[in-house]
Amino acid sequence: MLKRTLILGVTGLMSSWIYAQTQPPAAAPAAGQAAAQAAPAAGGTMTPVQRSDSAPKGTLKNPYQDTDTAVVEAGGKLYLNYGCNGCHGGTGGGGMCPPLTNDVWVYGGDDDTLFRLVAYGTQILQEKGYSRKAQENVVGPMPQMGQVVKTDDDLWRILAFVRANYHGAPECKFGCTGN
Ligand code: HEC
Repeated sequence: MLKRTLILGVTGLMSSWIYAQTQPPAAAPAAGQAAAQAAPAAGGTMTPVQRSDSAPKGTLKNPYQDTDTAVVEAGGKLYLNYGCNGCHGGTGGGGMCPPLTNDVWVYGGDDDTLFRLVAYGTQILQEKGYSRKAQENVVGPMPQMGQVVKTDDDLWRILAFVRANYHGAPECKFGCTGN
């Protein structure tokens, strides 16, 4: 299944590349469309686990801004589709599990750490040398969602949605000193 998704992803990329090569410049899509098509090409070819495994620690960065309403909207849908809300609540404010939108970051609030936590889950993340720096009111293991969320691109959109709902102290949005 994963393999098939990957192959489809690559085939899709190749056909859009071939399409781009065969289009005369006059038929180039409007700038807005070009940007919309270019965005997924930056990712979407790996599962979140493959992406995390292939990138050195600290180098993963969300290609999307949380002010991009189309991305945030898509991320919100994916967040629900992948069942994150079952534990974290509909907008990430917490439920049975820690809130995602406050300024307490369990392992750190930077893009790289959040991406890896969701991709690997608590157990593998800790095996890779990360330790809890802060505690939310609920303490428990995050499951490995990187086998469920299909692509790195999906996960970046979800994280843009999470950031868009942030309502903690502004200076702690991407992590606080000592947290
Ligand atoms: C079965 C319940 C469960 C599901 C489903 C789940 N999570 Fe979590 N999540 C947790 C728990 C528990 C933690 C705290 C982990 C720890 O302390 O090691 C956590 C932590 C997090 C954090 C870090 C929060 C912080 O304050 O540092 C993020 C971000 C996150 N989850 C995102 C997601 C996303 C995105 C999804 C869906 C793809 C998801 N979670 C699905 C239980 C869940």
